[in-house]
Amino acid sequence: MVRVTHDSTPALTAPGTIVHRADEPDAPWWHDAVIYQIYPRSWADADGDGIGDLPGITARLPYLRDLGVDAVWLSPFYVSPMNDAGYDVADYRDIDPRFGTLDDADAMIATAHDLGLKVVVDLVPNHTSSEHAWFQAALAAAPGSPERDRYVFRDGRGPGGAEPPNNWSSVFGGRGWTRVTEADGSPGQWYLHIFDVTQPDLNWHNPEVRAEFESILRFWCDRGVDGFRVDVAHGLVKEDGLPDWHGPMGVFDEVDADTGPSGIGRDVEELEGHDGTMVLDHSATGNAPMWDQDGVHEIYRAWRDVLDSYGEPDRILCAEAWVKPATRLARYVRDDEMHQAFNFDFLDTHWNAAALARVIESSLRSNDAVGAPTTWVLSNHDVVRHATRLGLDQSAPRTNGIRATDPQPDAALGLRRARAATALMLGLPGGAYLYQGEELGLPEHTTMPDEVRQDPTFHRTDHAIAGRDGCRVPMPWVKDAPSLGFGPGDDPWLPQPEAYADLAVDQQAGVDGSTLELYKALLRTRHQQCLGRGALTWDALTSETVVAVRNSSPERDADVLVLANIGPDPVPLPDGEVLVASGPLSPGHLPADTTAWLRVATA
Ligand code: NOJ
Ligand code: MG
Repeated sequence: MVRVTHDSTPALTAPGTIVHRADEPDAPWWHDAVIYQIYPRSWADADGDGIGDLPGITARLPYLRDLGVDAVWLSPFYVSPMNDAGYDVADYRDIDPRFGTLDDADAMIATAHDLGLKVVVDLVPNHTSSEHAWFQAALAAAPGSPERDRYVFRDGRGPGGAEPPNNWSSVFGGRGWTRVTEADGSPGQWYLHIFDVTQPDLNWHNPEVRAEFESILRFWCDRGVDGFRVDVAHGLVKEDGLPDWHGPMGVFDEVDADTGPSGIGRDVEELEGHDGTMVLDHSATGNAPMWDQDGVHEIYRAWRDVLDSYGEPDRILCAEAWVKPATRLARYVRDDEMHQAFNFDFLDTHWNAAALARVIESSLRSNDAVGAPTTWVLSNHDVVRHATRLGLDQSAPRTNGIRATDPQPDAALGLRRARAATALMLGLPGGAYLYQGEELGLPEHTTMPDEVRQDPTFHRTDHAIAGRDGCRVPMPWVKDAPSLGFGPGDDPWLPQPEAYADLAVDQQAGVDGSTLELYKALLRTRHQQCLGRGALTWDALTSETVVAVRNSSPERDADVLVLANIGPDPVPLPDGEVLVASGPLSPGHLPADTTAWLRVATA
């Protein structure tokens, strides 16, 4: 077994030494923006069909202006058979009727802009839906045809080509290849699908594919969007020759140093009968022939040129790239490539002061080395919500979904830590991403009935892995309303857990101490104090159980001390005005699992 080591993690800089320098006061908007992720299916349903939609989103946008975020990112709303919740796109230039029309999209973008919110949309370039016209044409065409060359079709191995071209698994479980039947009825070639069988991978060596996506970027820029979140940005180019791979395919799961591959990776190995002895080396995702290949970068340079041609204010690209280590991820945000990349190392870090301090430092240093701001994120539509994740055993690897039969989280502890984690995150320099409902402290739905689960992961792993439905449950807006105010109907596409009623927006708005009011206070203070553009030094209070960050800036005459108590005991609070705290403070002390922001004299 290849042991996973963390030797490349830099040691912590001594307190008082600058880790990261302040940004310019007139830095572009995306350097310190807080971007709120809307999962369109689950945010607001205007027409009452139980599925969220664009008119629902437009009507609720003032809520986000009041929350205090700078931008929204919407998961896909394009025409799709919804086998992977819209990440299987059949037409990149039109809206799925369940979500509305292009006119609705225009209205949503215009309303957001009127409210001072920027709009980032999702781009899915690694694969199309199998219902996309290109794939249908490829199926109808012959092996070796230009239509097939837009995808990754290969002859099979073994007698009669009956074995797949290589041993790759799908990230969602099962085989990564499916065999087609040729026009004459004979068993034919195989096509690659790193995700679901209905998500054929595109061939990014084909110039037609490149031209098409540049055209799609222009289509949405011309409609006024401010940027793109790029799905599976580390997957577009595969290693030449498509060599076999004996490591896990896992994207959404952590590989644990001691226990080996978890979740998707391990279960795929078991399902496929591979020997399962090799662990993905965390020091470089690029060891895997389908991830983080050098060839992806020229694609993003070309896209950057397209976006830059629209002038100022910048339109941005944000990479969804599950890439390690941080220095490798930083290559996606070099100054002629993307603007941002999600910081999944931060999301993946356990509730442990030393680990958090290390990941904060390595993230900032790696991005500083290429002149890019860092982003921070704790939740999204692919991971267990952080209010639940942080209430689970912190020594175990991150799980992909939770079922009623699995160990259940400590909900109160999870929420307390989640509030502290968010307060730590929003005190750091750089940009940040929030996932819908985290501002309400929403937990994962951990007891969802199996019959309603939709994530292909659940089905492709023969129910061994719960998958991601539990974090995708419709938002609670009003406690005493059908579907908790999600829409006029009372049958949302996924059931809401009981706990959501008391967490509804109307139960928290204006209520002192609520999670919603905490988020508003954090966002307001972060903005007033320009924390996203600050410099970062470790404060001397940093310890085995405390993360103590000094955020300083030429834009203000005092430092903001961000103090997160990750340990089990209260710690003394230094002198200073408390600007915000993630929970109640005891006299002179910061309780366990609590973060406070203090205005303190410049060091
Ligand atoms: C990443 C997306 O966030 C996820 O939801 C999707 O299943 C995969 N990419 C495949 O598109
Ligand atoms: Mg609807």
